[in-house]
Amino acid sequence: MTHPFESRLSRRALLRAGGVALAASAVGGGSTGAAPLPAPRGAAPGDPAAGSLVEVELVAKQRFQRILAEPAGPSPLITYAERFPGPVIRMRKGQRLRATLVNELEEHTSIHWHGIRLPNAEDGVPFLTQPATKPGERHVYEFTPPDSGSFFFHPHCNTVELLGRGLAGALIVEEEGGPKFDADLVCMIKDWILDKTGAFGAFTSDRGASRAGTFGGVSTVNGLIEPVIDVPANGDVRARFYNVDSSRVIDLKVEGADAWIIAVDGNPLPPRPLDGWPMGPAMRVDVVFRAPREAGRTIRLLNVYSAEPKPLAVFRAAGPTLPNKRFAPRALPAADIPKPDLRNAQVIPMAFSATAVAQVFDEALLTTLPYADSLCLSQKTFWAINQQSWPEGGHERLPPPITTLELGRSYVFELANLTPHLHPIHIHGYTFSVLSSDQRKVVPHHADTVLLEPKERLRVAIKADNPGDWMFHCHIIEHQDTGMMGYIRVA
Ligand code: C2O
Ligand code: CU
Repeated sequence: MTHPFESRLSRRALLRAGGVALAASAVGGGSTGAAPLPAPRGAAPGDPAAGSLVEVELVAKQRFQRILAEPAGPSPLITYAERFPGPVIRMRKGQRLRATLVNELEEHTSIHWHGIRLPNAEDGVPFLTQPATKPGERHVYEFTPPDSGSFFFHPHCNTVELLGRGLAGALIVEEEGGPKFDADLVCMIKDWILDKTGAFGAFTSDRGASRAGTFGGVSTVNGLIEPVIDVPANGDVRARFYNVDSSRVIDLKVEGADAWIIAVDGNPLPPRPLDGWPMGPAMRVDVVFRAPREAGRTIRLLNVYSAEPKPLAVFRAAGPTLPNKRFAPRALPAADIPKPDLRNAQVIPMAFSATAVAQVFDEALLTTLPYADSLCLSQKTFWAINQQSWPEGGHERLPPPITTLELGRSYVFELANLTPHLHPIHIHGYTFSVLSSDQRKVVPHHADTVLLEPKERLRVAIKADNPGDWMFHCHIIEHQDTGMMGYIRVA
């Protein structure tokens, strides 16, 4: 018998962020405390591994990686691991994550854990929830994700450039039980703003920021242009598709296979055919499809959002034909998102608008945080939420919250898009129940980011059970950067 403390230590995995797909699930059955065993998928409830610790180190720095073919050179990406996308942290529901950010950049930064309902202090927003992590410093995040699903992480300052150069990684929390898959892929979809030589171009312009955003010209999946991805022949393939682009809306189609959505932003929903589910920046879908029976056969992944479908990747069947019978997608175990009490919910209007003139804050409204140590206040404010603009460059000058919610009460946000542009609206620390729209039939589901169509009014609800100051913003990064950002206080 091992001493409980020792055994806890032995179950730790130290993961140096170094590869494309690091399996961070590092714990064994727990009875011996001996060398860690690879974790099985979908541990049973009450598995002794639950509660164990997964440790990762994320070194943010510039690394060269080839995106364009020769004669272009490798591009100066900024990543958390040796390659984009990386790392992929995989853990099981119930496990605790301890992630150390090591800042080897020349600017301050932080890590935001997108989609996770975590304690406010771990949310990674400089000046709002933590001091910014300065060059050469480290910052340790520690939390136990309460939900399974496909999440990700990225910085929350100078995001236009840092995300533009690739600073993002995946955090996958595997569910307990549920259907088995023959493959489980992460596909991070992102365009790059590159010139012919492989150098980055301008990540933002007034023209882009005040309209639909600046677009990259090079589409990739996992940093590769139209990659061929091997999948087991006749296998049931779970593909976790992430839109990690800063601006582009994607509507995926798996051409040549029956493909079904089984989760949105990591949250399970009754399986439904993948057919018209536009994803704004930061949105994800988990899809299951059946790979072709014969090795060598291919199917195509397309973005069909614009009139001209854009090929993104090819899936190619490989290996012996698996003995799967008829394709019948099954639901993942339901998420346990606190249910808003809609009958007693207060309705809060949230208007997303364009500013006519750059709107500079009334100095009297500003409070300066103790963390404030630098000023990079952007004067460019093209967008507002409830008439209030907070540019990302002005993080350290904290405006009042958009609204203050009472801890434990339920709220319906009426999100009104007063602009002719799309806005993927994201809330930190919470998962929306998406209720209804005045323009389309809404499939009830949970999401951390919802795509507001031009002029649309969309209703979403939360139960305000997680105290703190929570960012609430558009995830088209240039919109966020030029004013369509604020925070909600829950107290
Ligand atoms: Cu992925 Cu504040 O966002
Ligand atoms: Cu927007």
